[in-house]
Amino acid sequence: MRTLKLNGHVGFDTLPDQLVNRAIGQGFVFNILCVGETGIGKSTLMETLFNRHFDFTKSPHDLSEVNLVSKTYDLAEANVRLKLSITETAGFGDQINKEASAKVVLEYIEEQFEKYLQEELKMYRTMDKFHDTRIHVCLYFIPPTGHGLKALDAVTMKKLDSRVNIIPVIAKSDTITKTELQVFKARLLQDIKANDIKIYQFPENDDNSAQANKACNALLPFAIVGSSDEEIRVNGKPTRVRQYPWGTVQVENESHSDFCKLREMLLRVNMEDLRERTHTMNYENYRKMRLTQMGFRDDENFSLKETYERRRELQKKELQQIEEDMRLMFITRVKEKEQALKQAEKELQDKYEKLKNKHMASKRSLEERRRILESDIEVFRKRQLTAEQGKAVKGKKK
Ligand code: GTP
Ligand code: MG
Repeated sequence: MRTLKLNGHVGFDTLPDQLVNRAIGQGFVFNILCVGETGIGKSTLMETLFNRHFDFTKSPHDLSEVNLVSKTYDLAEANVRLKLSITETAGFGDQINKEASAKVVLEYIEEQFEKYLQEELKMYRTMDKFHDTRIHVCLYFIPPTGHGLKALDAVTMKKLDSRVNIIPVIAKSDTITKTELQVFKARLLQDIKANDIKIYQFPENDDNSAQANKACNALLPFAIVGSSDEEIRVNGKPTRVRQYPWGTVQVENESHSDFCKLREMLLRVNMEDLRERTHTMNYENYRKMRLTQMGFRDDENFSLKETYERRRELQKKELQQIEEDMRLMFITRVKEKEQALKQAEKELQDKYEKLKNKHMASKRSLEERRRILESDIEVFRKRQLTAEQGKAVKGKKK
């Protein structure tokens, strides 16, 4: 019997390596949404997190409604490519209507889901080339007031919590004292619970990261400090700081802020979990809702063709209803117009009659005056004649 020798390693234990290689080849996408009041430190935190300048312009305080500004950057670290999208709210918190501000943000998140869904539903999909802009994480910037959660923040977080992974952060936490911060964090957690807001919890089911994630869950909401311009050397190491007349806050010093924890959790440990949760939970829920709206349902009694036919029938009926409504509306409008025209005609006729009567009355009065004048003239003429005759008789007598 001839024995064949293996030329190399054979087996499926290289599958993970193949996956890693393919993923590295394709690159990664990560989309961050920063929600917070104007000037609360959103851009600064992003620049501190990624240690580079992004070209975000400062927002004015007089915008009539909230806008969302989005920028995409191609980053690379070692041989890993990352397409990073940062979206910031502009003008958030400057309007009186809280619901409207929250609605704009929610609509933006759903718009990104809708784009992805439309691509998925295409006959010829190009998912590998498609720029997935679904928001993977929402950093929610809470102002360091030391009081509880503001109504605007509670309303917005509640509205967004089923659509996006929310990580609340206390912005500019260098402006609040250590003891105040502890009390503030507890108050915020209390308010978050009372409003039934679901914030993102770092997963505790993976042995490798469970401990770190558990510790970080206990630290939420992270108290952060950002600094994009100031850097000094501490023990020979360049360190990002905020310098004050009374001292220096080191951004990466864990006794000064939770910035390092946020960076570790967001970029090093849980980026993939955030991406996965977005796809398998947040997007999935949105997709289910939209497909139900479109008339699809997982029912063995209905084939796709039947579903399509039913949907078409439904749409036809809806269109007929719209047509009928429009027809009725048209008839009502025409009737209203007719009524208005008749009314105008009547008013015109009344006006004409009034003018006519007025004119007749003034004509009558003029004729009366003319008659009086003519009789006056007659009397005058008679008198004149009598006077002239009198003068002539007197002349003859002389
Ligand atoms: P808009 O995009 O205009 O709404 O502002 P923003 O939220 O992006 O704030 P930005 O990062 O432009 O920062 C506004 C100001 O806050 C700047 O002067 C920052 O230096 C300052 N700032 C940012 N982060 C911190 C912080 O952690 N602590 C303190 N004290 N100031 C900060
Ligand atoms: Mg900004």
